[in-house]
Amino acid sequence: MTFARLVDQDRPAISFILDGSPIEAKRGDTLLTAIMTAGQDRLRTSEFGDGARAGFCLMGACQDCWVVVNGQGTKRACQTLAEDGMQVTRR
Ligand code: FES
Repeated sequence: MTFARLVDQDRPAISFILDGSPIEAKRGDTLLTAIMTAGQDRLRTSEFGDGARAGFCLMGACQDCWVVVNGQGTKRACQTLAEDGMQVTRR
């Protein structure tokens, strides 16, 4: 699953680091939106062996989108705004 940005093309660009590589995003994007619109197809790998996961509810209810932010614990990617210079690690 990837997302295509259809609106808000003119919001200011920001950049953050995903697994050691820079990712371009727009100010106001959630991490999930930023990662999926950058062409990535997963946020994490399921601990139950059923493959890649890329979020489910997209509204903070399912806990299927955990990422590690700035090395300080997990956050829901669908509820966390991307910030310039942020360090994000997928599990
Ligand atoms: S996708 Fe469900 S909590 Fe983020």
